[in-house]
Amino acid sequence: MTAKPVPPEGFRLLPGTFDRDRQEALVAQIRQILEESPLFQPVMPRTGKPFSVRMSNCGPLGWVSDINGYRYQPTHPVTGRPWPPMPQMLSELWQTVAPEYPPAQACLINFYHADAKMGLHQDRDEETFDAPVVSVSLGDTATFRIGGTTRKGPTTSMRLASGDVVVLGGEARLAYHGIDRILKGSSTLLKNGGRINLTLRRVTKG
Ligand code: SIN
Ligand code: FE2
Repeated sequence: MTAKPVPPEGFRLLPGTFDRDRQEALVAQIRQILEESPLFQPVMPRTGKPFSVRMSNCGPLGWVSDINGYRYQPTHPVTGRPWPPMPQMLSELWQTVAPEYPPAQACLINFYHADAKMGLHQDRDEETFDAPVVSVSLGDTATFRIGGTTRKGPTTSMRLASGDVVVLGGEARLAYHGIDRILKGSSTLLKNGGRINLTLRRVTKG
């Protein structure tokens, strides 16, 4: 028996997908989105423990977590307004890396301050796992951890720098992953520091 590879088949790291100019343009668009659809403080289902990251979304659907659970919804949990449209640069990225799938429906915006982290988890609140999860890193470099499709078992870690794109497709679509730490001051992109991660997902089958 041969051990399964870590990261699993279908994992791709595309370093430097967005150059500095395009990173700046994307950040400007995200800032506009956040004016309309402000970062909110998600909490863990059941326990109500706050996440260390704050979140918002753009696109037709947004991922939210509250005391009742994880889900996708078309409106912001605090303002009640629809999520703003997804920037074209992100729809184009999806077209490039996932051309055979229907368009992304949700773009989760995660903001990490220097001490924020994200525990190991699977992205599995979608109706379909056919399309990959595609994510963009902006700002300070993060240490990203990825394992296999079970919680136990080996993991590996790597740095995600500003402008890098990660694709979790194939076997890696349901790989456990998380953020161990943010390397404070490693990027000058965000004027007050920290890191933004944009995660694009297809939610429904059709
Ligand atoms: C996530 O898995 O939701 C975020 C991953 C990242 O911040 O790179
Ligand atoms: Fe995730």
